[in-house]
Amino acid sequence: MKTDLQKLTLIIIKPFILFILLSLSLFAFISFQTTGQSLSKPAAPDAALPSDIKIRPGYSSYDAYLNRQLNKTLNPKLRQIWTTRDWDRKVTKFAQFFDDLKRRDLLFNASKSLCIGARVGQEVAALKRVGVENSVGMDLVPYPPLVIKGDFHHQPFDSETFDFEFSNVFDHALYPWKFVGEIERTLKRGGVCVLHVLLSRRADKYSANDLYSVKPLEEMFKNSELVEVRSIDGFGLDTEVVFRKNKN
Ligand SMILES: C[S@@+](CC[C@H](N)C(=O)[O-])C[C@H]1O[C@@H](n2cnc3c(N)ncnc32)[C@H](O)[C@@H]1O
Ligand SMILES: *[C@@H]1O[C@H](CO)[C@@H](O)[C@H](O)[C@H]1NC(C)=O
Ligand SMILES: *[C@@H]1O[C@H](CO)[C@@H](O)[C@H](O)[C@H]1NC(C)=O
Repeated sequence: MKTDLQKLTLIIIKPFILFILLSLSLFAFISFQTTGQSLSKPAAPDAALPSDIKIRPGYSSYDAYLNRQLNKTLNPKLRQIWTTRDWDRKVTKFAQFFDDLKRRDLLFNASKSLCIGARVGQEVAALKRVGVENSVGMDLVPYPPLVIKGDFHHQPFDSETFDFEFSNVFDHALYPWKFVGEIERTLKRGGVCVLHVLLSRRADKYSANDLYSVKPLEEMFKNSELVEVRSIDGFGLDTEVVFRKNKN
């Protein structure tokens, strides 16, 4: 015969143990779900990312990322505008930026130059206008003869090809380490990279990352020195950052 005290203990303890077991299995289930999710997320960073840069969530695969980029770039109405009404205004402003860089001895007429994410090539036309003849653009969508087809995560160029690389599309990089690594690979030793980035607010809805300071760039350009950071007014971008690839 159980005593009253024993009965009471059983009545209290049994549901309590049951509760603990249930909570534990629920916890295990939830953690498994989350790990599974983060493992299957293709937009995970290509290497540990510095603080002050965040990859945007929501790209379910690399194809989903590319499709989103192409959705705007291939828009026929927009392409019409970029190549007509927008053309001269943008070429003129890019030409001012490049003239400034020439005055600071960061760009020369003889520099072999690449513009990354150049869309219809206004920046390439600007380089040619200021006398940098040997220049080409690269984008997911080609626009001959100024822009050839290529993904900035895997540039279609040999190592140590260019003296100068310009880009205002860093915020479109899903894999920022690859974006920077490819620039450092295809630049010659002593070559110059100029990025126009946005630090003061969030970039547009086609961006794949948000940058909060130049520190992540300094960390990722590990074979280069930071030459200059200055404020600009560049088509919605507010900061010009200049790196020079190490000579040895
Ligand atoms: C905001 S637009 C800038 C276009 C041009 N630089 C300008 O200022 O007019 C971004 C460009 O980056 C291109 N882009 C996005 N992801 C890319 C990738 N992975 N490789 C190459 N280009 C890419 C897009 O196709 C688009 O033309
Ligand atoms: C872009 O996406 C919209 C809907 O989100 C679609 O209607 C349109 O056809 C797409 N355009 C291109 C060029 O892929
Ligand atoms: C560079 O090219 C521009 C435009 O063709 C020309 O006016 C300028 O004199 C050239 N500069 C040098 C240093 O050759």
